[in-house]
Amino acid sequence: KTGARIERLPLARFTTLGVGGEAEVWFVSDHQQLAEAMAQPYRILGGGSNLVIDDGGVPERVIRLSGPLAGRNLTPDAELSDGDLIVTGWVGGGVPLPGLIRALQKLGYSNLEGTVGIPAQVGGAVWMNAGTRYGEMFGGLHTLEIATPDGLKVVTPDDLRWGYRDSGIPRNHIVTRVRLKLQRSTPEEVLAKMTLADTARKGQPKMKTPGCAFKNPGGMGAGRLIDEAGLKGAQVGGALIAPEHANFIVNLGGATAADVHALLDLIRARVGVPLELEYELWP
Ligand code: FAD
Ligand code: EPU
Repeated sequence: KTGARIERLPLARFTTLGVGGEAEVWFVSDHQQLAEAMAQPYRILGGGSNLVIDDGGVPERVIRLSGPLAGRNLTPDAELSDGDLIVTGWVGGGVPLPGLIRALQKLGYSNLEGTVGIPAQVGGAVWMNAGTRYGEMFGGLHTLEIATPDGLKVVTPDDLRWGYRDSGIPRNHIVTRVRLKLQRSTPEEVLAKMTLADTARKGQPKMKTPGCAFKNPGGMGAGRLIDEAGLKGAQVGGALIAPEHANFIVNLGGATAADVHALLDLIRARVGVPLELEYELWP
């Protein structure tokens, strides 16, 4: 059998919020299976760490990269690497980012350690250029392979209009693999930088959440604005605006997507500044 494995599954189990109804999940492990999956309306699911999925699920097929598309080759490419500049082999879009960051630290390869603590997959993190003030995904990319409705494309960051929490890659174009562009350092130095980024995260809640709800508008902190509007601790059903950090909505257990939507509406109504959602709402 060469086709993708297809299963109807609750999406809640694939998300860090732990909310979301059923859909047909396609586990694709090569480019041919991916092309087949993309032939009908689809969504691409990564680490599920930025998603609020309706309790009714989604009607489209949901693609998950697996097998070789979730594998990594961190060996420096002999032709592309040069002195302290390291360009790796291909890293699959389905690779969990936290494990990758740990592996790079052990090798003493720098550039991506600022993204420590982001519970994404590589493809999802690249698609939205996830990051912290200590670094973002586009700080460590050499080449991107992207599956589009018109076929496979290989591009470099210079070909894209990327910026804060934005790769410029159109929705539903799928980041299948990337080559990383890293700087040779030492495990100790990379660890020290990771610790800085980790420390900045100390005030974030430890409960089930899809991360920050809103992007920071023009240099202001969305968390601070929501906090100043007096909304910490506001609760609808099983969803709560975290007392630790107001830009995080957490699932107390049994939260529904509607509970989260109600809190997002409350925030928009009470904060005077227009806020752009960072989460993705499905459908
Ligand atoms: P998903 O949540 O699965 O999907 C998000 C979007 O990416 C969807 O549109 C999806 O279709 C798309 N996508 C997924 N995979 C691919 C792919 N292979 N190709 C193309 N598109 C794809 N974010 C930060 O930027 N900085 C932080 O510090 C941060 N901290 C967080 C802390 C916690 C505890 C949590 C839960 C989240 C945090 N986030 C943070 C948010 C989240 O991790 C990022 O938005 C991340 O980029 C989402 O990646 P994902 O793989 O989980 O994508
Ligand atoms: N603040 C408040 N009240 C709050 C929350 C924050 O007053 O409820 C204040 C803090 O005291 C601080 C300032 O706002 O002075 C900034 O807060 P923080 O350091 O927590 O950073 P942030 O801007 O809120 C950003 C990213 C996070 C990332 C951290 C650490 C965005 C939207 N958020 O948060 O990313 O982890 O920096 O680098 O850019 C995410 O994108 O999902 C995410 C979690």
